[in-house]
Amino acid sequence: MKKQYIAGNWKMNLTLDEARDIARKLCDGIADAETVDIGVFPPFVYLKDVCDILSDSKVFVGAQNMNMEQHGAFTGEVSGGMLKDIGCTHVIIGHSERRTIYKETDSEINSKLKAALLNDLQPILCVGESQDERDADKTREVVEKQLSGGLLDLKPEQVEGLTIAYEPVWAIGTGKTATPEQANEVHAFIRNTLRSKYGDDTAQSIRIQYGGSVNAGNAKELLGQPEIDGALVGGASLDPNSFLDIVSKAASFS
Ligand code: 13P
Repeated sequence: MKKQYIAGNWKMNLTLDEARDIARKLCDGIADAETVDIGVFPPFVYLKDVCDILSDSKVFVGAQNMNMEQHGAFTGEVSGGMLKDIGCTHVIIGHSERRTIYKETDSEINSKLKAALLNDLQPILCVGESQDERDADKTREVVEKQLSGGLLDLKPEQVEGLTIAYEPVWAIGTGKTATPEQANEVHAFIRNTLRSKYGDDTAQSIRIQYGGSVNAGNAKELLGQPEIDGALVGGASLDPNSFLDIVSKAASFS
């Protein structure tokens, strides 16, 4: 069985004190870090503090976004090298909020993914359809396009061990989670798409997280699906008890 991977995307939330407090609680509360991979993704300005608190723990720390360039005149941006420099090991790329609000394209996401790998950061590539796209029966088409655009020109050895997060946009922050069967069906489609591009071994090495209104109440059913290898948790990751509860649900499937 694959090791489950539970990641908390804190988005643009929390004060510095709150962020440090959650990090300390995770540090104390994580008993399942042997069997589950756990990561937190704080806002940029809290990353160094959270990295320092979690440096002796097994909890990964990553950023929610990064720039595709290494350095230069890009006001307001943060590079992969800078993230690496302060102790980050992971990064979220292509979150739907960046795709929809900041109009990130598949081509930019592809460049960011390559820059993450170049800087030895482990990316989570997010994909997922909107409500309108699902209603129009376009889920597979949309996800396939995001996958092929996001992974363009990556070699099988670069894709090996990657993490993909399937986050249906209509389930994010809405309390309206995909049913375990709906999620599993799209995960199986993603796996098959990866298999046809890179072969079975590589496809099996890729963990596919589900994201969208995951909480302690629904995590067990979702994580129990054969194609779901973890969760990318938003709102519920802001409460360390809920997050730890989700981690312990994952531990029973790792
Ligand atoms: P919620 O868990 O708040 O729905 O957010 C999901 C998400 O976008 C994680 O990246």
